[in-house]
Amino acid sequence: MRILLTGVTGQLGHTLHPILSQHHEVIAPTRAELDLSDTAAIATFVTNCQPDLIINPAAYTTVDKAETEPDLAQAINGIAPGEFAAQAKKRGIGLIHFSTDYVYDGSLRDEQDVLTSYTEDAPTNPLNVYGKTKLAGEQAIIASGCQYLIFRTSWVYSTFGKNFLLTMLRLANERDELRVVNDQWGAPTSANAIADISASIVQQLCASENPAQWWQLHQGLYHLTTTGRTSWCGFTQEIMRQASAGGKLKKAAPSVTGIPAVDYPTPAQRPVNSSLNTDLLASTFGVQIPAWETALAVCLSKMK
Ligand SMILES: NC(=O)c1ccc[n+]([C@@H]2O[C@H](COP(=O)([O-])OP(=O)(O)OC[C@H]3O[C@@H](n4cnc5c(N)ncnc54)[C@H](OP(=O)(O)O)[C@@H]3O)[C@@H](O)[C@H]2O)c1
Repeated sequence: MRILLTGVTGQLGHTLHPILSQHHEVIAPTRAELDLSDTAAIATFVTNCQPDLIINPAAYTTVDKAETEPDLAQAINGIAPGEFAAQAKKRGIGLIHFSTDYVYDGSLRDEQDVLTSYTEDAPTNPLNVYGKTKLAGEQAIIASGCQYLIFRTSWVYSTFGKNFLLTMLRLANERDELRVVNDQWGAPTSANAIADISASIVQQLCASENPAQWWQLHQGLYHLTTTGRTSWCGFTQEIMRQASAGGKLKKAAPSVTGIPAVDYPTPAQRPVNSSLNTDLLASTFGVQIPAWETALAVCLSKMK
């Protein structure tokens, strides 16, 4: 297939590119080659590219900065996905798009008032501009009538780019104590895990003898994170444990102290619990979804 892949300089796009390139022709424009805040440019690029499939991991992901740049965040996260969807609909091709756990407000509890994981049919209620714009993007895709897969993911990290894992590893070599929020819950998810699962689903599409029927059967919105749940503090403790055991730190691991989110104020409000239930993805596509600790170990093993 000829695949148009956005966001190739980002964590997920960068990870997806070599995996997809093993089996497909991948056209992967940088922001300089295709600026997603320019809707007309999207239409022109797709027309010239003539893809068989569009994969859109590009996004405005600076959650706090989005509070003061809502129009730019909306252009990239809310409007551009709708334009890709319109192009996909016009050409009868599919669109794979990525969204976020921040479409939820994080207040979900079960009957015993215990934290539980969101299923895809749970009501959305984003607390911040980033979440609102990502939800707008989902809605534009669904409203377009194109063939689509939307994968909501969470707490993305990789060996590359700006992310929580790399920040904590850097701080571990500078400090003796790390103070990290322990009352926000989610599933840290490696770009590698998302890319492997997404690419295997692309292979299922390719192997299908009747792509239109495949889309009819599989189209929809799915949660794609690792399994399990932890806090930022729990994630940090596991990073330190694994990195220390694997000789990835330059000194003894720092102590990790939990603090409440109110002691670490940020411009954008974040959900308390944004863990996502991935059962629908696993049962629909028959994919193996790693536990968050396992995905972390795989990611650390790829680092020097
Ligand atoms: N990161 C997370 O923790 C997280 C959590 C939940 C969901 N997600 C979702 O997962 C997906 C992948 O995220 P990620 O972590 O890979 O993001 P990322 O590392 O921040 O990468 C974002 C990509 O989008 C590109 N981009 C931004 N603005 C653009 C524009 N105007 N025109 C063209 N390209 C533009 C960036 O290009 P430049 O390099 O030029 O900036 C970069 O390649 C996104 O849909 C995101 O919303 C991420």
